[in-house]
Amino acid sequence: MKEDRAQLKELIQNSDNIVFFGGAGVSTESGIPDFRSVDGLYNQEYDYPPETILSHSFFQRKPQEFYRFYKNKMICLSAKPNNAHKALARLEQLGKLKAVITQNIDGLHQMAGSKNVLELHGSVHRNYCQRCKKLYDADFILSAKEIPTCECGGRIKPDVVLYEEGLDQHIISEAVRYINQAQVLIIGGTSLNVYPAAGLIDYYKKDKLVLINKDATPMDQRANLLISGKIGEVLSEFT
Ligand code: APR
Repeated sequence: MKEDRAQLKELIQNSDNIVFFGGAGVSTESGIPDFRSVDGLYNQEYDYPPETILSHSFFQRKPQEFYRFYKNKMICLSAKPNNAHKALARLEQLGKLKAVITQNIDGLHQMAGSKNVLELHGSVHRNYCQRCKKLYDADFILSAKEIPTCECGGRIKPDVVLYEEGLDQHIISEAVRYINQAQVLIIGGTSLNVYPAAGLIDYYKKDKLVLINKDATPMDQRANLLISGKIGEVLSEFT
């Protein structure tokens, strides 16, 4: 076994307080493109930059175009959990992993069996009427003709944090608490480009920070163990 994988295995075997922090790279092996890789969503051609489309003001001003992009690119209901999701769920079942903190909105961690999942950026599976707050699922959004509309006539909005919107403060404080108390913090499949999410790792205070990513990140030099590779493959032996 490669030295870095052996070190990871030892860290996991010797800890019962592991926290995982992840991003879109955790779901690419399930067929969901990430954002900033070469083939990622933000490197494809659209009428507007995707970060503009996925913003609060664009949702308000151009809901039809927002939903056309959102339904085509952000909802992937056929995707299934990969070995990364399954391994993390297994480590939680073994009492080793205390929380998954994710920037993803695809729900694949829960589908793999993870129970304690903190969704920093919300979920495509939760959608609510802006007028009466009635909840709708992702199928309703996909089946809606143009702009998903509530039976009360109100416009339905995905429970997803758009650019220009704030994160849920309760979820942030929960994530800070788990990271601050973690023995081992495993970060994977994220470019650590987007704040406040990326800033959460500043709350980790011990010396077992593992970073598993295909490409370099701005936090590589802070890792106690840096593993370059596909996270589903790296974690596959723990599934
Ligand atoms: N294994 C390991 N790393 C991977 C894999 C993989 N199979 N696939 C991709 N990666 C890495 C890429 O190298 C990249 O560094 O995952 C990272 C994904 O980075 P981003 O595409 O920037 O995704 P993420 O970090 O989750 O973006 C954060 O930006 O636009 C917002 O709200 C959006 O939640 C998203 C946030």
